[in-house]
Amino acid sequence: MTMPKRMVAVSWSMLLCLAAAAAVLKARAQLDSIGFISIDCGLPGTANSVDDATKLSYAPDAAFTDAGSNHNISVEYITPTLAKRYLNVRSFPDGARSCYMLRSLVPGLKYTLRAEFKYGNYDGLNRPPVFDLYAGVNFWSRVNASSQKVVVLEAIVVVPDDYVHVCLVNTGSGTPFISALELRPLKSSLYPQVNATQGLVLLSRRNCGPTDDADIVRYPDDPHDRVWLPFVNTARWEAISTSNKVRNLDDSEFAAPSKVMQTAITPRNASGRIEFFWLSEPQPGDPTPGYIVILHFSELQLLAGNAVRQQHLVLNDDLRFWSDYTPPYLLSDTIYSMKPLPRFSRYNFSINATANSTMPPIINAGEIFFVFSTANVGTDYSDVSAITAIKAKYRVKKNWAGDPCVPNNLTWDGLTCSYANSNPSRITRINMSFSGLDGDISSSFANLKAIQYLDLSYNNLTGSIPDALSQLPSLLVLDLTNNQLSGSIPPSLLKRIQDGSLNIQYGNNPNLCTNAASCKPAKGRNKLAVYVAVPVVLVVVIVSAVLVFPFLIRKKQGSTSTNITMRPQIETMMSYAPATLPPGDAHTQSSLHLENRKFTYKELEMITNNFQRVLGRGGFGEVYNGFLEDGTQVAIKLRSQFSNQGVKEFLIEAQILTRIHHKNLVSMIGYCKDGQYMALVYEYMSEGTLQEQIAGMPYAEMAATENS
Ligand SMILES: *[C@@H]1O[C@H](CO)[C@@H](O)[C@H](O)[C@H]1NC(C)=O
Ligand SMILES: *[C@@H]1O[C@H](CO)[C@@H](O)[C@H](O)[C@H]1NC(C)=O
Ligand SMILES: *[C@@H]1O[C@H](CO)[C@@H](O)[C@H](O)[C@H]1NC(C)=O
Ligand SMILES: *[C@@H]1O[C@H](CO)[C@@H](O)[C@H](O)[C@H]1NC(C)=O
Ligand SMILES: *[C@@H]1O[C@H](CO)[C@@H](O)[C@H](O)[C@H]1NC(C)=O
Ligand SMILES: *[C@@H]1O[C@H](CO)[C@@H](O)[C@H](O)[C@H]1NC(C)=O
Ligand SMILES: *[C@@H]1O[C@H](CO)[C@@H](O)[C@H](O)[C@H]1NC(C)=O
Ligand SMILES: *[C@@H]1O[C@H](CO)[C@@H](O)[C@H](O)[C@H]1NC(C)=O
Ligand SMILES: *[C@@H]1O[C@H](CO)[C@@H](O)[C@H](O)[C@H]1NC(C)=O
Ligand SMILES: *[C@@H]1O[C@H](CO)[C@@H](O)[C@H](O)[C@H]1NC(C)=O
Repeated sequence: MTMPKRMVAVSWSMLLCLAAAAAVLKARAQLDSIGFISIDCGLPGTANSVDDATKLSYAPDAAFTDAGSNHNISVEYITPTLAKRYLNVRSFPDGARSCYMLRSLVPGLKYTLRAEFKYGNYDGLNRPPVFDLYAGVNFWSRVNASSQKVVVLEAIVVVPDDYVHVCLVNTGSGTPFISALELRPLKSSLYPQVNATQGLVLLSRRNCGPTDDADIVRYPDDPHDRVWLPFVNTARWEAISTSNKVRNLDDSEFAAPSKVMQTAITPRNASGRIEFFWLSEPQPGDPTPGYIVILHFSELQLLAGNAVRQQHLVLNDDLRFWSDYTPPYLLSDTIYSMKPLPRFSRYNFSINATANSTMPPIINAGEIFFVFSTANVGTDYSDVSAITAIKAKYRVKKNWAGDPCVPNNLTWDGLTCSYANSNPSRITRINMSFSGLDGDISSSFANLKAIQYLDLSYNNLTGSIPDALSQLPSLLVLDLTNNQLSGSIPPSLLKRIQDGSLNIQYGNNPNLCTNAASCKPAKGRNKLAVYVAVPVVLVVVIVSAVLVFPFLIRKKQGSTSTNITMRPQIETMMSYAPATLPPGDAHTQSSLHLENRKFTYKELEMITNNFQRVLGRGGFGEVYNGFLEDGTQVAIKLRSQFSNQGVKEFLIEAQILTRIHHKNLVSMIGYCKDGQYMALVYEYMSEGTLQEQIAGMPYAEMAATENS
């Protein structure tokens, strides 16, 4: 059992306020003026279709889903009375899961979700499909579509977030489709059986006693737009009715509408009983669902002096559901089970008059549900918001539908998530390489606070690298290679690289300025440009060559140095080395490394005073503070023995470090390769100094001085 993500107590009046606000912001919000969402799935164009019976307006579904295609049902299934929303469907031939996203909701509030399916041989196959329906990340129902009937599935759930997905999952028994989708807010006090971890699926909702069997009660007679089907059986029941209004008490848990309560049935045989039954319907994953029964009563006749109507409610002959019950006059009253009934394969309900009763039993309305678990928790709310914005910005299709991480076998392609027992899942890795992304890097990436690895390589991304990425606390690797990025690396990211917490790769961005000299802003450029451009750095090719090549060669013993097959990453980085490289092979280059001091592990121990002070922590190990003999403060990045990333990756990071460090920021002092230990030693610039430099801004001058 997991706790709800967020519970917000919301009053009905607040909901109405929100609904009103939503009406004002009509262009953006999905709710209509009364807080409903009504969708005519498969309706093309932008014009709504208006339902003849309720006068409710059904919106086309394009704004709610980005998958599937529209179809009309076959003409032979069109009848004059068929509601317009059933004339067309949206079908989803591609992908395991297809979803509608309903937004602008109030987290923690109860909602009725109603999905309607009219197959009508829309695909000409004459084979109604079977597929699964989910409310968010929780299984709701199996849909067994029918050619003749409209299948209507309704659930009452607490929605944990300000949105909910309704998803159709292909189970290999035909293409999922849908005709209509409705969402209705419910007062929090309604249906007390429903809470954050338990929802109700409707089996039947009946209004007893209307004269016309086409007399369906719903909106506006029921402000909650529940659909009350007529229960008419004139052979056994006699209908009674009143034109008086039947009131609800203010704290009514069900608020059965007056129109429904104004009719009731009573047995024709005065000594008879009212009987009804239902069969338990095994559900996938729940062979014996737990049923909830909710019966609505009101006395509609003003009884004479000593007349009494008193009745027993009996389940399966021997279980008294309720005894000696007298319905109140013109007041709506409800007898209901709070917990599921005992499990039977058949439920026989009867209502008989007590011995003292002078009147036959009555009933006005009834609802039967079974409970279902809504305990599965979706992905962290802010992660969903961010990745949804990213999906929209880059118009990602793939299988990006529904919850990004849950269930784990439907995780969005390219995403990796963490699943903690009691917490919502988080997005930890994103691989959107080779995804044809264009435009700038979405600022929403910076809202994915649990992300450790972000690969945007091999796209067409333009613009500059957002500063905000440096605020991602867990980000270890940022791969931006092979794009069209411009500007320079933001100082805040440089700092992350310096403190060893981030590995950034950005090769093959022809317009990205990584050389301090050429980044020098032209006179008159605005301050921001200066700010961004200057902290960018000279490429310390020599050091990188030193660090990478000898080890590569070691690893590849037997092959000649010119014949090394490098991993693409390394190749990218090598090809990035500027043309100023001295000609020659790796051996020639490595002879230049003497400028850098080689440390032994023992020396590092002394310098760091036995690795006492940790400055930072990266995926490769820790960064320690230390002092050289001459008092120079240094940062030592030590590759952890337990690092699950290999030597090569460490070297790659080392190379990046050396490459992006401008003299003004840090400089590489040396390295250590001593048995199992590998470390990089670089000058440490205290945060204050770095910030001063970044904030102090005589950067252009400094760079100029430096280069002169
Ligand atoms: C569906 O029917 C409407 C009107 O009858 C027609 O305009 C539309 O083109 C049809 N759509 C498809 C996909 O056949
Ligand atoms: C779907 O309904 C049909 C007819 O009502 C029934 O024969 C069939 O077994 C059902 N399929 C499933 C998977 O429930
Ligand atoms: C919801 O109700 C069920 C049944 O009464 C109960 O077991 C569960 O703990 C409740 N969940 C919450 C979050 O209150
Ligand atoms: C009326 O109901 C009683 C009890 O169920 C039964 O014994 C009797 O035969 C019924 N009368 C008629 C006329 O159906
Ligand atoms: C319910 O009623 C039917 C028909 O009267 C009967 O055959 C069946 O045994 C009853 N079931 C239970 C569980 O009482
Ligand atoms: C009503 O039904 C219950 C259970 O079947 C039975 O015990 C009781 O005698 C019945 N009462 C009358 C008045 O028929
Ligand atoms: C039924 O009537 C008797 C006699 O009037 C009375 O004593 C008894 O309390 C009544 N029972 C109920 C349940 O009202
Ligand atoms: C995902 O897992 C569930 C339960 O573990 C299983 O029923 C379902 O078929 C799986 N779906 C896919 C697409 O593999
Ligand atoms: C990232 O995605 C690309 C393209 O789909 C794939 O080639 C590459 O192997 C993926 N990288 C990782 C680390 O999974
Ligand atoms: C990038 O855009 C150019 C032109 O707009 C196009 O030719 C190229 O194929 C695109 N590259 C990728 C990887 O999408």
